[in-house]
Amino acid sequence: MKESDQSPPTVAFRLEPAERLSGAVRVPGDKSMSHRSIMFGAIADGVTEVSGFLEGEDSLHTLDAFRSMGVRIERGGPGNVTIHGRGPDALTASGEAIYLGNSGTGMRLLTGLLAGAGVAATLTGDESLNGRPMRRIVEPLAGMGAQVSTREDGTPPLVITGGVPLVGTDYTCPIASAQVKSCLLLAGLGARGRTTVREPGVTRDHTERMLRGFGVEVQVDGLDASLEGGQRLRGARVEVPGDISSAAFFLVGAAMTPGSTLDLQNVGINPSRTGVVEILRLMGATITVTGERESGGEPVADLHVEGTTLAGIEVPERLVSLAIDEFPALFVAACAARGRTVVTGAAELRVKETDRIAVMVDGLSALGADIEGTPDGAVICGGTRLRGGTANSRGDHRTAMAFAMASLIADHPITVLDCANVDTSFPGFAATASESGLRIEVEQAPS
Ligand code: S3P
Repeated sequence: MKESDQSPPTVAFRLEPAERLSGAVRVPGDKSMSHRSIMFGAIADGVTEVSGFLEGEDSLHTLDAFRSMGVRIERGGPGNVTIHGRGPDALTASGEAIYLGNSGTGMRLLTGLLAGAGVAATLTGDESLNGRPMRRIVEPLAGMGAQVSTREDGTPPLVITGGVPLVGTDYTCPIASAQVKSCLLLAGLGARGRTTVREPGVTRDHTERMLRGFGVEVQVDGLDASLEGGQRLRGARVEVPGDISSAAFFLVGAAMTPGSTLDLQNVGINPSRTGVVEILRLMGATITVTGERESGGEPVADLHVEGTTLAGIEVPERLVSLAIDEFPALFVAACAARGRTVVTGAAELRVKETDRIAVMVDGLSALGADIEGTPDGAVICGGTRLRGGTANSRGDHRTAMAFAMASLIADHPITVLDCANVDTSFPGFAATASESGLRIEVEQAPS
């Protein structure tokens, strides 16, 4: 564990009001797929070549975690990673606690994988991650026989006991969560018998798709995913497309500002991730999808956005899990949209890197928005310009980038505090945003 990782430097974004976005943007690689490419490559037999890998802090922590467990991993040119997998049995218990930074995906998936592989480990993270709920994985893992302990309130560090044999499970998940589903499927790979995870709603299916690319048979039946334990992974080639969750900030920025015209190239459009496009279209946005193609078992395309005046809507609850990471940006779109936008069924936002309902309500209110939080969402009355001012991201990458986009609808400058964690998912965000029209400067507190 690196101490320096625990207290990132204080970074603020200073933004002058901007009018529109234009040009062409390439966003960094998909974070969910980048984590999985390292994890699956590390337990596969043979070499895995990854291109388009997100060189953000979250996925790099996952990479370092497997290096600390004895896996040879080489980084080539930008986005290229080679993993020399020797099967799950070759993983060795790391002497020290494994530090996963800010990453819930890293921690929840790794816990299942290591429990299934019988590897002892202690997993920890930064202040945010060490405050996040882990019973959602620890309880069903215990049902498979795993021994994983948390702190008394169910938060990390997680201590996984090694060498404990697991049995498959048939688990009905009370929340729609790809992290829980993936954790249990990865544990199931090392368990005796079959593991089935039944979900209450659609969640991202990168685990199911990518496992198939590594030669694993995964059965999907509606909202249920199953696999037989004992299957081995074969090294594979993984092409990671641009992350639609990173593209979302630019989609929103361009969609809500008349006069914008923006192209987003090479973006993953897996249907379990495109809720943001559907929601923006319901608000009246003009988004066209061109050049649809398949890359490594995942649909990819280029997106074109024309700015317009959006209209408030009641966001259909069926779209919530398909856009779960995009609500910080969508709340900003709702501020721009004429009329009332109502978000319900999104209580999961309260247990992300921050309580994203509270952070967005506080920050957007400070900037002059008419927004009220509810237990499972928010009500926003939009259509008037924001005043500007200071919004605190509370160290959450997605709230920081969302507040930056608010400068497109503000009359006065905006300062966004505590932005260092933008590097977890979108290194180079400020440069990309500036090239496409935001008037953004990054201020780093002297250390
Ligand atoms: C992720 C799943 C989502 C999402 C997270 C990434 C994944 O979390 O919010 O950023 O890669 O599986 P939940 O599955 O907990 O909703």
